[in-house]
Amino acid sequence: MCQTMITVLMLLIVSEGTESSVTFENPDPCAVKGSSVEFRCSYDYGDDEAVTKTAWYKGQSINGTWKRVKLSHLPSYENRSEYLGDQKHDCSLAIHDLQVNDTGYYYFRFDTEKYGLHSKKSVHLSVTELRARVDPERVRAGDNVKLKCGVSCQISGAVWFRDGRPVAKAEFQTQAEDDGNYLCAVKGQETMQSDPVALEVQYPPLNVSVEVSYPGHLAEGGSVNLTCSNAANPAAHTYIWYSSKASSFSSMLQVGSGQVLEASHAGIYFCQARNSVGESNSTEMLLSVNQSDIWHGRVILVVGIGVKVVLVLLLPLFVIWAWRKRCNSEVGKKEEQSPDYENIICIERARAIGQNRITQKEMSG
Ligand SMILES: *[C@@H]1O[C@H](CO)[C@@H](O)[C@H](O)[C@H]1NC(C)=O
Ligand SMILES: *[C@@H]1O[C@H](CO)[C@@H](O)[C@H](O)[C@H]1NC(C)=O
Ligand SMILES: *[C@@H]1O[C@H](CO)[C@@H](O)[C@H](O)[C@H]1NC(C)=O
Ligand SMILES: *[C@@H]1O[C@H](CO)[C@@H](O)[C@H](O)[C@H]1NC(C)=O
Ligand SMILES: *[C@@H]1O[C@H](CO)[C@@H](O)[C@H](O)[C@H]1NC(C)=O
Repeated sequence: MCQTMITVLMLLIVSEGTESSVTFENPDPCAVKGSSVEFRCSYDYGDDEAVTKTAWYKGQSINGTWKRVKLSHLPSYENRSEYLGDQKHDCSLAIHDLQVNDTGYYYFRFDTEKYGLHSKKSVHLSVTELRARVDPERVRAGDNVKLKCGVSCQISGAVWFRDGRPVAKAEFQTQAEDDGNYLCAVKGQETMQSDPVALEVQYPPLNVSVEVSYPGHLAEGGSVNLTCSNAANPAAHTYIWYSSKASSFSSMLQVGSGQVLEASHAGIYFCQARNSVGESNSTEMLLSVNQSDIWHGRVILVVGIGVKVVLVLLLPLFVIWAWRKRCNSEVGKKEEQSPDYENIICIERARAIGQNRITQKEMSG
């Protein structure tokens, strides 16, 4: 009983494995007019069978009836269709110099000694003009874009070039640099190229920087031109200049507009460029006074400091001199003293005189 079941199962598996079939690698190819296409195809049949005939057919509507017509009976395929297969398991077919009216359904049939078998399924070939499309044609940086090669279908093996440089992917998120002209070509037949199509990528001002006209620093009473350079699409339409004195970083004030600013004050500058997509600020830039002016300034400063130092040193000497004069006149010239103790004695005397005066005040008071 059990053995019978196993035998039945084995028979089922064997019959499954030997079922006749035709398999197409790509049932829906898209090819470019003028190029070649290859239908990769394999077929299977019972081990005890031998193949006697093979043929490819095209589905055609004749007087309103769908018919399969042998390619060898169609004059327009003469010299253009090429059977690449054999009478074993390979049934591949190539068609060269494709015309748009080659579009259609293709079938394979093989015959063994016992029976003939048409493929149940078909290959549907689309032949298209070689045309590049970008979808959409205008984007903002960051948006996704799809590149499509072909009109009625999309060529799967297409390669892409932007302004002559290969493009890695046919679908990507755009950046400013993706702006340019795109064309597609048939892989392996790169001489077959589409006309270029433009992809416009709009982006806010990028790489905003302040450029300083020669000589790059301020001469006394002069000015320099600051240019707000940037890359933007569409071009920036508004520029705002900000500045602050070098000493106060915090308070940046609006000091002008337009792409070029005539600056006559030293300080920190930056510009803001704006287009319809957005705005960006440049980095801050320090505009300094001519180096030789700074040197002159230092000389004046050093001289100024020198005068003050001299004054500070001389003042006490003068005070001492004045004090001595006054002291000597008050104490009188009666007492002969060595000059070394003169000042001390003078002070003591002065104190004594002071105390005397206080005592007199207290007594009188
Ligand atoms: C196919 O090739 C043969 C031999 O080169 C030629 O005589 C024949 O005219 C060609 N047929 C077509 C339809 O071009
Ligand atoms: C297909 O188009 C080509 C050229 O456009 C023409 O020569 C050929 O006769 C057409 N074939 C059929 C089957 O209509
Ligand atoms: C911005 O500068 C970088 C570095 O120099 C450069 O690679 C990039 O192309 C520039 N961007 C634009 C939009 O010009
Ligand atoms: C700045 O630009 C103005 C107008 O373009 C020009 O007349 C002037 O000579 C320029 N100054 C400098 C320092 O380049
Ligand atoms: C540019 O600078 C202005 C003025 O300081 C500021 O209001 C603005 O937010 C800045 N913009 C950017 C993008 O940093």
